[in-house]
Amino acid sequence: MVEGNKNKKWNWWPLFPLYPYGNKKTILRELIPSQIWSLEQIQGLYYVAVPIRMTVVKVESGLMLINPLPPTKELVNELEKLINIHGKVKTIVLPSASGLEHKIGLPALSRVFKDADIWLCPGQWSFPINLPLDFLGIPSKRTRILFEDGTPHGDAFKWFSLGPLNLGLGRYQEVSCFHYSTRTLHVTDAIVGIDSTPPEIFNFDPTPLLFHSRERGDEPLIDTMEQREKGWARLILFSSFLKPGKLNIPPLKKILKYSFKKDLCDWRSHFGIYPFMWEEDWESSLVEIMGKDSPKIQIAPVLKKLIFPRSKEVLIKWLENINDFKDMEYLIPAHFTAPIKFTKEDCQNLIEEINSEKWNILQEDSKFLINLYKKLFELGIIPKEVNI
Ligand SMILES: [Fe+2]
Repeated sequence: MVEGNKNKKWNWWPLFPLYPYGNKKTILRELIPSQIWSLEQIQGLYYVAVPIRMTVVKVESGLMLINPLPPTKELVNELEKLINIHGKVKTIVLPSASGLEHKIGLPALSRVFKDADIWLCPGQWSFPINLPLDFLGIPSKRTRILFEDGTPHGDAFKWFSLGPLNLGLGRYQEVSCFHYSTRTLHVTDAIVGIDSTPPEIFNFDPTPLLFHSRERGDEPLIDTMEQREKGWARLILFSSFLKPGKLNIPPLKKILKYSFKKDLCDWRSHFGIYPFMWEEDWESSLVEIMGKDSPKIQIAPVLKKLIFPRSKEVLIKWLENINDFKDMEYLIPAHFTAPIKFTKEDCQNLIEEINSEKWNILQEDSKFLINLYKKLFELGIIPKEVNI
């Protein structure tokens, strides 16, 4: 194995088998000079892969990690560059109760940073049964629960919660924080900013972008900037709506007709199996969710349709808390663009949008998610009682 690949190896991937499986590239970006950094990897299913972020914040005599990522050798090497300058990892925060993609790296990360205090969002749950923390690989001796046991670095951050909301199998909750000195708001999944430029991490392997930039399985994967942007736009639609309105699944006969063509019989092209058929005007779906040059700030579309339909008030209450940070300048979420210019006005715009008629309009693109929500509700999986 070449040295580069060894650094990217993550042996625990069968626990949560997401693309790129055991071979995760990590990049380090500086978000706020000498104060905040981002470590990014790609996670996804069947090439519907989007970047996921662990945020590193400089705290008193060390560093705090928000939203753990799997600690590949490459990730630890990158972190060590920061540790050498700013001091050791003092705190690891898992601020989400429901986002499995943010939890999966925590046990291994906590073993790498043996002295770090671990803070968890209340109400962690594992499916199908609730297991004790140590069983999940989280060392209970140095683990504390946000709010119940206080909050970390309380002088430098204001901590507050979105939710909890009852999901039946568990809860939806995320804990956000405002960092006074950089005037930065940190969230996990609830707010995102999406723009048309493919994230930097795809420069190392643009395959997921090129895979989706095609119309049929017998088309080769061609690497041009235009194709990368087209593929990125489609990945945004997948991750926002699961099944976008302008996407059809062709009949099996048609899929097989274009599969297994010469030169495409490899894992990279999934042997030409491409079970997607986009309508000609598919790009019209992007208007609502993707900004061209600057990120479009929004409540994450999947949460908007799956979690918040009955709990608008909880969402508004949370945004009103955010609105108290009068000098707020930036937003750093765990997905998509960061940092994003984000002020009190942007927050107020979100509140107004949620209160407007537009919020309840059912777009073609959201039909799949809404039907999924209805189905889960009918089956009793999403309970009638929303509060915990
Ligand atoms: Fe997430």
